[in-house]
Amino acid sequence: MTTYPDLRTHVSEVLFTEEEIEKMVTDIAARIDEDQQKLGGRLLLLCILKGSVVFMGDLMKKIKTPVEIDFMKVSSYGASSYSSGELKITLDLNREDLSDLHIIIVEDIIDSGKTLSKLVPYLLGRGAASVRSCALLDKPSRRKVDYNADYVGVEIPDEFVVGYGLDYDERYRALPYIGILKREIYEK
Ligand code: IMP
Ligand code: MG
Repeated sequence: MTTYPDLRTHVSEVLFTEEEIEKMVTDIAARIDEDQQKLGGRLLLLCILKGSVVFMGDLMKKIKTPVEIDFMKVSSYGASSYSSGELKITLDLNREDLSDLHIIIVEDIIDSGKTLSKLVPYLLGRGAASVRSCALLDKPSRRKVDYNADYVGVEIPDEFVVGYGLDYDERYRALPYIGILKREIYEK
């Protein structure tokens, strides 16, 4: 028998319960539907791996407009708890013609803003009809570049959060809620 640690004890505070997250996702989906009605055309939800995978799964079920989905993986260098400035595409969007796609990038959280501020022009440069972004969480106080997402679930203070897809060092992604990770875990 292996005794696994109880990951819930690594969280100092639950910021958003499953119910609260569901409400935020429902609201974002409704806003996306409303805008897409006006815009028309093909809608592509582009999930940024891996942190956005849980959010993406819930969001796509709540959007009533027909959606296509795809994935990209971008890695940032530096300490695992915070993203650094460099952006490297490790899994690219594997499609040729983006010209009739209205893309919404699906992100778990915006921190410095560097990832999205680079991805949006990259996708526009590849010829997408339009590119918007959506993030469940936003930490505006951490912004290093001037970038704001088109759809945001909620703004949070400068705390390191995990769960609902978000990790620290690849752990905690499967927690169904979003919690603040105890400082002693990453300041060891
Ligand atoms: P940025 O906006 O380019 O700085 O990067 C955002 C990315 O940093 C997110 O997609 C996450 O992978 C990671 N990140 C930022 N803050 C947190 C956090 O509090 N918990 C977990 N990952 C985070
Ligand atoms: Mg991450």
